[in-house]
Amino acid sequence: MQTWLVTGGAGFIGANFVLAARRAGLARIINLDLLTYAGHLENLAGLKTDRDHVFVQGDIGDEALVTKLLTEHVPDAVVNFAAESHVDRSILGPQAFIQTNIVGTHSLLTCAHKYWKGLDREAQQSFRFLHVSTDEVYGSLGPKDPAFSEDHQYQPNSPYAASKAAADHLVRAYHHTYGLPVLTTNCSNNYGPYQHPEKLIPLMIQNALRGKPLPVYGDGQQVRDWLYVEDHCTAIRTVLERGRPGETYNIGGNAEKANLEIVHTLCRLLDSHMPANAPHAKLIQHVADRPGHDRRYAINAAKIKRELGWQPASTFEQGIARTVQWYLDNDAWVQAVSNPEHQEWLRKNYQQSERNI
Ligand code: NAD
Ligand code: DAU
Repeated sequence: MQTWLVTGGAGFIGANFVLAARRAGLARIINLDLLTYAGHLENLAGLKTDRDHVFVQGDIGDEALVTKLLTEHVPDAVVNFAAESHVDRSILGPQAFIQTNIVGTHSLLTCAHKYWKGLDREAQQSFRFLHVSTDEVYGSLGPKDPAFSEDHQYQPNSPYAASKAAADHLVRAYHHTYGLPVLTTNCSNNYGPYQHPEKLIPLMIQNALRGKPLPVYGDGQQVRDWLYVEDHCTAIRTVLERGRPGETYNIGGNAEKANLEIVHTLCRLLDSHMPANAPHAKLIQHVADRPGHDRRYAINAAKIKRELGWQPASTFEQGIARTVQWYLDNDAWVQAVSNPEHQEWLRKNYQQSERNI
């Protein structure tokens, strides 16, 4: 069995990735996560007795720790999910994004490069450094523009997107300069179990369940391409297995939707689960827009389909129904992550700002 060093594996996508990989017995996993406000051991509760999952609390920027883990566990791959991931937080405080997403990713690359140089030839050839990135690096599209392909110009607009773009460039440079076998994936918006309730879909579900306002930024006509998180995880595994080193792969769900449409869909699903509180749509409230808000993202995922045969298994309708059901069934998880830090964030972003809800 292979060994993978996964970073950020207590967050939303990382935890889904680790849980699925362990369920399938694909690899022994060393899970390095700093447990920032976004990381939760509750996400990994199912792995408590799994001896092939080793959790280590720590920073990807801690080179001594990363080097120790690499030397001790001799992984076949590093999969880097660790990041500050919320655009609104990057607007109110960009520094942590520079530190983890750029400086931290660079430290991880430095350690991986040193480790890789010390491997024998065969192990060097099969080693992979997979960096998980975002479609936001490409900037914003007009309504009729073609979807982002891998050669689209980088035009990041938020501090979050700029920090991810910088990391992508460093990953690319470590391949071209030092020959490190890297892979980069640029994915669209994910949704599904274990997503932090600061993000659109879980925030709306949680507020609707508690009869609170549903804060739609601006006119709500911003478009995102939505992918069920399980499908993102299978795409990453596919790229890890068969992607060509040095290449980047765009990943998307073929599900472009305006935010307002997403919120109405959630309201309709909740109406059918809880008719007594219908219509949940009465809670929708338009609030001040996100500064520099990108209008539209869309992914052209033809390359990963053509070269590696990957495409999403779930439609948006299937994925969103499963997601709503998961949040209804897992209120204990929602309560656990709705901690004082999260309450403080909600106050800062929605009450103390001009949004005032
Ligand atoms: P998340 O915020 O839910 O989780 C991030 C995890 O990284 C947390 O567990 C956190 O504790 C950990 N972390 C943060 N700083 C760290 C550090 N310095 N060292 C070690 N661990 C650290 O994020 P997510 O939504 O799961 O996103 C995971 C990755 O996927 C990110 O790189 C993000 O940019 C990318 N991505 C996310 C989406 C999406 O829709 N959520 C889409 C495309 C790409
Ligand atoms: O596109 C991929 C990106 O998707 C990832 O790289 C990011 O890590 C991830 O957070 C996500 O970024 P977004 O900014 O698109 O996601 P978010 O859930 O924050 O917002 C989705 C849309 O909903 C966006 O247009 C802003 C809007 N929105 C969001 C919140 C939290 C609202 O209208 N109201 C809200 O309260």
